[in-house]
Amino acid sequence: MIPVSEPLLGGKELEYVTDCIKTGWISSAGKYISDFESGWSAYCGKKYGIAVSNGTNALDVAVHCLGLRPGDEVIMPSFTIISCALAVVNNGGNPVLVDNDPNIWTMDVGQVAEKITSKTKAIMPVHIYGHPVDMDPILDLAEDHHLAIIEDAAEAHGAEYYSRSNKTDSWKRCGSFGTMSCFSFYANKLITTGEGGMVLTDDEALAKKARAYRDLCFQPHRRFYHDQLGNQYRLTNMQAALGVAQMERIDDIIAKKQWMAQEYTKLLQKVEKIQLPAEKPWARSVYWMYAVVLSDACGMDNTECAKRLYEKGVDTRPFFIGMHEQPVFHKMGLFINEKYPVAERIARHGFYLPSGLTITREQIDLVSNAVCEVLGP
Ligand SMILES: Cc1ncc(COP(=O)(O)O)c(C=O)c1O
Repeated sequence: MIPVSEPLLGGKELEYVTDCIKTGWISSAGKYISDFESGWSAYCGKKYGIAVSNGTNALDVAVHCLGLRPGDEVIMPSFTIISCALAVVNNGGNPVLVDNDPNIWTMDVGQVAEKITSKTKAIMPVHIYGHPVDMDPILDLAEDHHLAIIEDAAEAHGAEYYSRSNKTDSWKRCGSFGTMSCFSFYANKLITTGEGGMVLTDDEALAKKARAYRDLCFQPHRRFYHDQLGNQYRLTNMQAALGVAQMERIDDIIAKKQWMAQEYTKLLQKVEKIQLPAEKPWARSVYWMYAVVLSDACGMDNTECAKRLYEKGVDTRPFFIGMHEQPVFHKMGLFINEKYPVAERIARHGFYLPSGLTITREQIDLVSNAVCEVLGP
């Protein structure tokens, strides 16, 4: 079976983790934590990095720092992971949804303006499968309406967006746009710490708030006396050691993903029944996953297609199911009767192919042949 993803731990991971064990620095104190925080924030063009235990908690920290009041709204795409909506709901707010773009599957930025109300506090763009959101319209709306941006870059380490905002024409990395930006370092991500996450910001006060929140709001001068409630979201030094070793190879990691995408595209472009991942002229995708969408004419949904590919030794994963189709939110009275046609279609027809960093030329050929056999040229 060709797996969907396998981590590549081929650099100094073992050396750095061994160092933690030999020196006894195995908890959330230690030099790898600060090296990882400063290294990753600098790479993304942000001043402060706050490492946390996973990407879901990174989003929770970021939304917490907004200080939402009950009923405050955060605009996000329907098609995303539940972590985005969860962070808002858990902090007393209401997620407000927009549909997704039919070509790049990120939020449809053209729908955001009409969703802004007096209760809107933030916009949460989510870069999907390694392709950036069209950020300039979001940056403009945020500025005009005094909104925060919580950028979810969990799937887009090192991806770049050509921004013309503030009249600076330049390529900028995902994670550099948010008031607070969030990453996941789960084992299938471009940079992994096994489980892990980080919040980035340029704002010193927000960084301080985030650091306190991830560490139970202990007070520097009177540790066990609390005037705020926090959470225990700390990353360990051993996990950060993995992250530091991974970061050293980020250029090779991105190059491998882009090579993989190029090869798949060459082999699959003749398959009429699938839509391949697009790359906008203003984007440099890192192809976290090589994702495809079955055409309506194909007569098969992603479950059936996944089953047939599995029988041929190819593992796949289905796309997210939109937030407006989640029974748990309906039970809370959210998104009732809301319709987002693109999110609904790609949830049923989208899936991604084996895309791990260990993938070989031979595996790409095998996967592509299996896709051609199942779907025809
Ligand atoms: C877009 C997005 N945001 C957030 C997360 C949550 O990250 P984690 O699994 O580390 O909690 C993920 C996880 O894959 C994700 O894809």
